[in-house]
Amino acid sequence: DTLTVAVVGATGAVGREMLKTLHERQFPATKVRAFASARSAGSKVPFGEEELTVEELKEDVFDGIDLAIFSAGGGTSAKFAPHAAHAGCVVVDNSAAWRMDERCPLVVPEVNPEALEEHQGIIANPNCSTIQMVVVLKPLHDAAHINRVVVSTYQAVSGTGQKGIEELERQVRDLFNARDPENKVYPYRIAFNVLPHIDVFLDNDYTKEEMKMVNETVKIFDDPSIKVTATCARVPVFFCHAESVNIETEKKITAKEARIMLSQAPGVKVFDNPRELMYPMPAYCIGDDPTFVGRIREDESIENGLNLWIVADNVRKGAALNAVQIAEELLKRDLVRVPDKNVFMR
Ligand code: A2P
Repeated sequence: DTLTVAVVGATGAVGREMLKTLHERQFPATKVRAFASARSAGSKVPFGEEELTVEELKEDVFDGIDLAIFSAGGGTSAKFAPHAAHAGCVVVDNSAAWRMDERCPLVVPEVNPEALEEHQGIIANPNCSTIQMVVVLKPLHDAAHINRVVVSTYQAVSGTGQKGIEELERQVRDLFNARDPENKVYPYRIAFNVLPHIDVFLDNDYTKEEMKMVNETVKIFDDPSIKVTATCARVPVFFCHAESVNIETEKKITAKEARIMLSQAPGVKVFDNPRELMYPMPAYCIGDDPTFVGRIREDESIENGLNLWIVADNVRKGAALNAVQIAEELLKRDLVRVPDKNVFMR
């Protein structure tokens, strides 16, 4: 049997990590193809010891491709994913374009893999900040039902893609050379600063990133009774998002019980020993697969509350790894097929 896999957006920060993750995990593709915009056509991207030649993404390229993992921005996904599904190619999409579409499952394999069974050709990968939060909340919600989540994020510039990484690098260099740093990507300087602003502002004065955390969490848990409120901040860190998460549960969970539950949870690593100064930090989680949780303690201001500090590599578990895990789960469940090729063309 053959299995041809495409990475769309292969020259980007996440696309490169997707190729690396596919190779590292020995994803059983018989052929891997790399796509990006016309700007990069003909250039090379690494795939293990080899290099792939980047092809230009066009509407008619998907014939003969079984599975495409997209990370080329929402506009590209909105336009091209329906053409892929129409050609019988299953899409795992990392952008926000399809996440809230009722036809598309929104999946974190440790949390709701069963949602894949109903897929119709396009599967959405959640927002990076949502993924690392729900992986940790899952066992706590199962055990005690979470009524409310209050989350504040500290998000790395790689979440903006390669251009975010370059902006921080350039501004740090400019400042050390007494040059005025230019803001090309963010509205203000990100070097040695914190921006309480990720993605665009909405009518309710929340940002789109904050509302993604609210709405995606409900969809993933398939439970509108979980109320989430979020504040998302961009910090001058290259890789890994950190989150301060406060939860209020129906039933009491002690910090000790939470530590035990979390240490048994798939995809989670408890790193929590205040006496030994053990707590997760972005600088020490880069390139790691697990979502790290520490600073686990009871919220003494309410009856049933917990505080948690969660860190994960946003490019890896927050994007590339989660997408590849979805692809693995599709294979395992024999779901690499599009039942009705016209669902997204109507
Ligand atoms: P390209 O390098 O040719 O612009 P990042 O998130 O790191 O900025 O990466 C975005 C990825 O999406 C890149 O691989 C980029 O390719 C790709 N991309 C952006 N716009 C398009 C498009 N219209 N068609 C195909 N790929 C695109």
